[in-house]
Amino acid sequence: MDKLAIQGGIALSGEVTISGAKNAALPILCSALLTAQSSHFTNLPHLNDISTLLHLLAQMGVGVTLDGSDGLVLEGGSLNNPLAPYDLVKTMRASILVLGPLVARCGEARVSLPGGCAIGARPVDQHIKGLQAMGAEITVEQGYIHAKASRLKGARICTDMVTVTGTENLMMAACLADGETIIENAAREPEVVDLANCLISMGARISGAGTDVIRIQGVEKLHGAQHRIMPDRIETGTYLCAAAATGGQVRLLKTSAAYLDSVVDKLMDAGCDIQLERDAINLKAPQRLKSVSLRTAPYPAFPTDMQAQFMAINAVADGVATIRETIFENRFMHASELQRLGADIQIEGNNAVVRGVARLEGATVMATDLRASASLVIAALAAQGETVIDRIYHLDRGYERIEEKLARLGAQVRRIH
Ligand code: UD1
Repeated sequence: MDKLAIQGGIALSGEVTISGAKNAALPILCSALLTAQSSHFTNLPHLNDISTLLHLLAQMGVGVTLDGSDGLVLEGGSLNNPLAPYDLVKTMRASILVLGPLVARCGEARVSLPGGCAIGARPVDQHIKGLQAMGAEITVEQGYIHAKASRLKGARICTDMVTVTGTENLMMAACLADGETIIENAAREPEVVDLANCLISMGARISGAGTDVIRIQGVEKLHGAQHRIMPDRIETGTYLCAAAATGGQVRLLKTSAAYLDSVVDKLMDAGCDIQLERDAINLKAPQRLKSVSLRTAPYPAFPTDMQAQFMAINAVADGVATIRETIFENRFMHASELQRLGADIQIEGNNAVVRGVARLEGATVMATDLRASASLVIAALAAQGETVIDRIYHLDRGYERIEEKLARLGAQVRRIH
């Protein structure tokens, strides 16, 4: 298992290019299951999660052709095996995103239940309930969801909570259903909008994406798409935090703050000077950050996927911050690892109290999930001395060439195989 060794205490400085969004690319690649025609996607990030999904799509019979450095053509004409096996789904929960498109197009699907994961139970009951409301017959046997429907029917669906992949799965399924589907309490995340735009370019009739009510008029068939994946707002936020924690000055290219208001506001509250351009973000950190309290909630509120990174910056900021996690029940695992670097953090249920310390010291730590790993990288960059982060396969799921990008900003980072 690879490790990352980081020599901390260097202020990051320079320019780095942000990749396409993992959480937009995953559902958008699944949308290729909805049509027999070929679709062309660009700005795809090179990530393990994307390779896992392509492997899964190829197993189902989808043609996969790489095109240039960040492009890809998917061709669903020979889709013949609507099965997502356990060994692939267990490594990536987002594989559940094939369920809706498969039932809609093939009339059946067998998808392994994803099971729990480190950050919480993460059930998929809302995906199942929504498809049942559209007339799918669903049984769960031997760890597999088996869904059948000769043709899905439009329905009014109100999810019990805001679910991002749930909204995406149901929106994709509804595109080929008979009649109108209304998804209430829909997720408003920008990645849902990016997927909706891709589906619209395939001939889907969708309105309201980006609001909490999405209406979809089903059509008989969709055609191929040409779509450029949006920039990764979480990767963007992570590099902003890394620069902030090290007292650095960076310019992030090919990205936008359009979907990052809550994160940019908090960084400004922490004392950072942030200048926004159309396709770039500039950040200059103060000598010492001020603590910032936050509470995670569905978009447009503060994203749970940025909570761990803000715990790292609060660990070295001046003051006391409270962090409240409202989306996942077990998403503070990075706290005990940050404590190994000298952070002062107290956890009580879904609340963390972080008392900033003057300096962190390098140590050996272990990554537990994707964003937890990012918080350890940020803390390691800010700490004095060397930190070795173990189990960075988590990091490779969501951050493209992280050591190369950090090195471009002057960090001393080394991958140990
Ligand atoms: C997506 C993101 C993930 C992010 C999360 C919350 C992708 C590929 N992943 O995950 O990075 O952290 O949104 O912004 O886009 N829930 C249920 N039943 C369901 C569905 C969800 O109880 O059927 C619960 C979950 O356990 C969780 C909450 O709803 O507590 C939100 O989860 P959800 O938005 O579905 O997360 P994901 O879509 O899995």
